[in-house]
Amino acid sequence: MKDRIAQLLDEVQHAVPETKEQLEEFRLKFLSKKGLIPSLFADFRLVAAEQRKEMGMLLNTLKQTAEEKLKQLQERFEEEQKSTVQFDTSLPVLPETGGRHPISIVRREINSIFERVGFVIAEGPEIEDDFHNFTALNFPEEHPARDMQDTFFLRKSPDVALRTHTSSVQVRVMEQGKLPIRIIAPGRVFRNEAISARAHCIFHQVEGLYVDKDVSFADLKQTLYYFATEFFGPETRIRFRPSYFPFTEISAEMDVSCNICGGKGCNICKYSGWVEILGCGMVDPNVLEACGIDSSTYTGYAFGMGIERITMMKYQINDLRMFFENDMRFLRQFESFV
Ligand code: PHE
Repeated sequence: MKDRIAQLLDEVQHAVPETKEQLEEFRLKFLSKKGLIPSLFADFRLVAAEQRKEMGMLLNTLKQTAEEKLKQLQERFEEEQKSTVQFDTSLPVLPETGGRHPISIVRREINSIFERVGFVIAEGPEIEDDFHNFTALNFPEEHPARDMQDTFFLRKSPDVALRTHTSSVQVRVMEQGKLPIRIIAPGRVFRNEAISARAHCIFHQVEGLYVDKDVSFADLKQTLYYFATEFFGPETRIRFRPSYFPFTEISAEMDVSCNICGGKGCNICKYSGWVEILGCGMVDPNVLEACGIDSSTYTGYAFGMGIERITMMKYQINDLRMFFENDMRFLRQFESFV
């Protein structure tokens, strides 16, 4: 009997049921009522009294080993079945394709409008030094825009800061000295402002710069008129108001007729019929000179517009914070746009 127990123990230990069916066979063979182990227990009656203790222990070990194995494998197969249901690779793919962010949609549209008339895309770093963000752009030493309240400084003297506008890219391109220049530079900018429905400390701008011989303010107006009608529609009107920027002379701000009410007056345009969308002007000769360009031969125009503002106009979004919240209910509405 001892040999028989040892032999069965060996069989139990080496059995490798790989499926539920094989495990059931294992159970029937060893543990069911008529299985091998219960039948050994039946034979136990015949064992001589002095061997009973030893045989009893061996038999129990065998039974426990078989039961343990059965239980473990049962659990494992159940787990596996659950996980194969979760990862059924034969299921059809869900039609989840994602979509572009509204800011990306508008940035790409602006790019393509300007690319059609010969502008090329330029880029610059988001972390800038004082020279490219301020000094080369003719900011006086005490100009309030340099103040800690507006600018996120990363280091003081020499100054390193997050760029406060994409005009820094103008400087980087002009420094390279390849003329003529006709670029647009989209990108993120940073200002130390309280977050509200109309302002954020991170936002996006597109800078435009054209430097050549005989560039005039009329060229600037015509290019921006072309942009406004392409972007907002052919009925759009534009107007210029005198303004001031350290890096342009003359300077202006441009308004477009409100695309919501068509200029009649509504709460988007605050009942004026006009919405301001950008700052612009003729590049100040000081800026050309600071970048190594001869201002007696070359002239240029520049403009900068906020992408958030015109995206809000185009899609009638009334809170700027929506762009940064990653709320799927908002983002999903733009899935069909390209
Ligand atoms: N950099 C200016 C701003 O951030 C916009 C601007 C760009 C104005 C180019 C004139 C020319 O407000």
